[in-house]
Amino acid sequence: MSQTQSLTPNNVPIVKRNPELDIADALKGDWMNNHQFATTWFNAMSITFPLGEQFFINSVRHYRDRVTDPKLQKEMRDFYSQEAVHLREHQRYNELLCAQRGYDLEKLEGPLRKRMGWVKKNVPAREQLAGTVAVEHLTAVLAERALGEADLFKGAHPAMAKLWKWHAVEEMEHKSVAFDVYRATGGTEIMRRAAMRRSTFFLIWDILGGVCHMLRKDGKLWSPSMWASGFSFLFGKQGILRGTWQPYKDFFREDFHPWQHQTQQLIEDWELQQQA
Ligand SMILES: [Fe+2]
Ligand SMILES: [Fe+2]
Repeated sequence: MSQTQSLTPNNVPIVKRNPELDIADALKGDWMNNHQFATTWFNAMSITFPLGEQFFINSVRHYRDRVTDPKLQKEMRDFYSQEAVHLREHQRYNELLCAQRGYDLEKLEGPLRKRMGWVKKNVPAREQLAGTVAVEHLTAVLAERALGEADLFKGAHPAMAKLWKWHAVEEMEHKSVAFDVYRATGGTEIMRRAAMRRSTFFLIWDILGGVCHMLRKDGKLWSPSMWASGFSFLFGKQGILRGTWQPYKDFFREDFHPWQHQTQQLIEDWELQQQA
């Protein structure tokens, strides 16, 4: 007998889009508000996506036969479709970026690739899915920050703003798919919380590793003013982490669900901007 396992609101379809993204020129320079640290930070995030998103798809797909709700089954397929396009576009992004700015993609991806290989072999599928649930929450929190009232990409190169906002919207649409699969298949609260602690550490570790590689190549790794500007980009008044602490902490609540926090309006506003 099947029962409702999906808690994605009925008015939030998970749409596969194929945006046209002309980012080659923008990637040559400091496309994020002419701010080198901010640009480097987002570029380093992008490096983690192709491997990360393949991992998310695999960890959810592993449970495809255990989910009985047709709505959630469809959302799982839509989730793979969205993440597969993200993966493809960020792979292209990363290759262009490295070719144009002289970064070494193999070196950049190396540590994450190695760890993923280890995780695949040694970590139970349930824990892998818990890791995906955790990172999907982190991306949803950042997506809301990116699309929220203080439009983070206001001063960014338009092609890059288009790419990051499109990705942010789709992360928001599918923000509870992995979570609902985890719950529907018996995932525990203890494992979910532990996965968040681990995932937060490794995500920051991976991004910082990428930032250091890129700044070294740009001759700015040891520049105090570069790191000072980085600190204010992350933690300052307009910093990207501003306002993210509470939604991050919510994940640790016993009764947490990603859609307790309504973000439909941000998706609708973005859709309207596309038609303008
Ligand atoms: Fe994604
Ligand atoms: Fe995602």
